[in-house]
Amino acid sequence: MISIKPIAKVKGSMKVPGDKSISHRALMLLSIGTGQGKIRGLLNSADIFSTLRAFQSMGIEITEEEDAVAVTGKGLYGLQEPSDIIDLGNSGTTMRLLSGILAGQPFMSVLTGDDSLRNRPMGRIIEPLREIGADIYGRSGNQKAPLVILKNPLKGGTYQGKIASAQVKSCLLLASLYQGGSFTYIEPQRTRDHTERMMRYLGISIEVEGTKILMGSPDEKQAPGSKKKEFINRDLEVPGDISSAAFFMALAAGKPGFEIIIESVGVNPTRTGIIKVIEDMGGDIAVLNKRSLSGEPVGDIRVRGKILKNIPIARERIPSLIDELPIIAVLASQARGDMEVSGAAELKVKESDRIAAMVQEMGKLGVKIEETPEGMKIYGEQVILGGKAYSHKDHRIAMSIVIAGLLSKEGVSLSGEECIDISFPEFFKKIQALREA
Ligand code: S3P
Repeated sequence: MISIKPIAKVKGSMKVPGDKSISHRALMLLSIGTGQGKIRGLLNSADIFSTLRAFQSMGIEITEEEDAVAVTGKGLYGLQEPSDIIDLGNSGTTMRLLSGILAGQPFMSVLTGDDSLRNRPMGRIIEPLREIGADIYGRSGNQKAPLVILKNPLKGGTYQGKIASAQVKSCLLLASLYQGGSFTYIEPQRTRDHTERMMRYLGISIEVEGTKILMGSPDEKQAPGSKKKEFINRDLEVPGDISSAAFFMALAAGKPGFEIIIESVGVNPTRTGIIKVIEDMGGDIAVLNKRSLSGEPVGDIRVRGKILKNIPIARERIPSLIDELPIIAVLASQARGDMEVSGAAELKVKESDRIAAMVQEMGKLGVKIEETPEGMKIYGEQVILGGKAYSHKDHRIAMSIVIAGLLSKEGVSLSGEECIDISFPEFFKKIQALREA
């Protein structure tokens, strides 16, 4: 249990830890590339540790150096059969992306996770992986983990994605490194493209045309399961995570007088939905000092508090801000008018049912907020009174409630806050630093 007192003033600059999505992909791709690659700015959190341990259990050497993590990749076919089941804790990204790599291996593997992960939908990767030839099974009629993955040659072709999910897309793009022939993945809606960017940066053959991603050259006429081109590792640098920065952006954006600069944050356009929302709500937000890090755009995000006006958030924006919706709900409660979030059913199958969790917990703090069939309605200009709340063991719910506590009248006691270690172990230290600034 932690008690969060209201914050009187926010002014200053800060950094947030490395991007979680990019950190997973860096560890995975360097493990199956050839030679040593160093990762600077890798997120040091529980979810990333799940990915790191999984590859160590398959014989990959990953060592911590003073200012980087060094991965010695053994090539596409260098992983060893793990001697035990692989426990991925709370990490959905690890389970879904890793399954794509494991589907191409000549050995058996079994993946499991915590209560939350074992109840998240895995049919969304099992079904397409089977379609390209994988021998993969899951509990509950191939819908849930534990997953068992056996050896089978994978074949190329075209797959039309059914849900807008970067995890599903990335699973298939990784599996395609083990397919005979070329492979095309068509996304129903554009989602974060970190896998595509990193693959390109590492020299893997990939072309993107709108929502179509082509892997390998179209004239590759290889037999199913025949060997693909290896790639040589390069050093990678991970930008700050915009999904972690979002909590501080929301803290400052709606309060005149508050101002914050968050340095070196990834501003990949498939992730900047939160910036666009703050802009569209009439906020004062700017990306300064734009540059590029290992193929990803980066900048310093400056937010100055203003009275905001709510806007509707519909399906087309959802993939660009999916992980930010809980904190956007907090921001919306402080703005003028009401906010209706729609087309966001995916939020129900995250680390928790994030719609139910936010409606319950914000409700406990005195905010009027309702669940709708595929989203939520947040009433604006609410006073967050304060009180007792629970994290639902979900890091993003926990951090959203902490920000609500900072903006509240009387403070908040939050239980189950340990889950914040999943993505942002230094979160409370950053808040302390803001209080002392
Ligand atoms: C992620 C994709 C998103 C996001 C998750 C990380 C990724 O999930 O919510 O936190 O790294 O690819 P979906 O692909 O399920 O939308």
